[in-house]
Amino acid sequence: MNNKQKDIFFQIHQGIPREGPGDFESPKNAFLKMVDLPPHPKIIDIGCGPGLQTLDLASLTNGTIIAVDNHLLYIQELKQKIIQQGLSAQIEVIEADMFCLDFPDATFDVIWAEGSIYIIGFENGLKQWQPLLKQGGYLAASEITWLKPNASKELQEFWHTGYPAMQDIPGNCQIIQNSGYKIIDYYILPESAWWNHYYQPLEEKLQIFQKHYQADLEILEVVNMVQQEIDLYRKYSEYYSYVFYIVQKQAAS
Ligand SMILES: C[S@@+](CC[C@H](N)C(=O)[O-])C[C@H]1O[C@@H](n2cnc3c(N)ncnc32)[C@H](O)[C@@H]1O
Repeated sequence: MNNKQKDIFFQIHQGIPREGPGDFESPKNAFLKMVDLPPHPKIIDIGCGPGLQTLDLASLTNGTIIAVDNHLLYIQELKQKIIQQGLSAQIEVIEADMFCLDFPDATFDVIWAEGSIYIIGFENGLKQWQPLLKQGGYLAASEITWLKPNASKELQEFWHTGYPAMQDIPGNCQIIQNSGYKIIDYYILPESAWWNHYYQPLEEKLQIFQKHYQADLEILEVVNMVQQEIDLYRKYSEYYSYVFYIVQKQAAS
């Protein structure tokens, strides 16, 4: 993508409730599995985007949350919502790069990464972020995962190009165990979590951009790329989904 196309990509994504599939139920369930958290856990939400899940998290805990992202417009959007909802004492938003998070070891009770760990890579993220967790701390991350084998050629090609490291559930469980964590639970996000706050509003924006930029082939290329991803999910949703993995840091052996 050239700079103009990157800008359009962000414009398409700007202002929709989530930047990836998600719902309220999944983090609620995930949080309930973290049984022995302190009364005021310290949480980091990595790749928070516009922060709907950050605000959901705030409603589930008496702890404090540091939300980090490297895209300034999302940070500004989330800061505004925090002020509007009177949550400034509970949530701090920081511009930071998930590849080099500058916090002392054992700072957090919980690492949260909804739809964002793929950016650093599932295995890499689990390993690089582990020192930030206190002993026995939890990490909850949703990761795109194959649910069924024998996907069509077009679907395999799409994900092989977009995210070649994509695994099935046993593959990810193996990675988790090899990275120094115990698996507490995992569950598959329902289809509604893809549509309600993500693909539906995204598709509405695509229609507007398509009409507005009918003659601009560079922009239409971006619109078609995003539309292709949505169409593939509509066609093949039984083959893949985001899976929420809840894992706990193991004592070093
Ligand atoms: C797919 S979105 C998920 C956002 C949010 N967690 C949600 O579920 O709506 C991924 C987020 O990661 C952010 N991101 C991308 N690269 C990053 C990096 N190197 N460091 C921090 N955040 C990054 C993007 O700006 C985006 O907000």
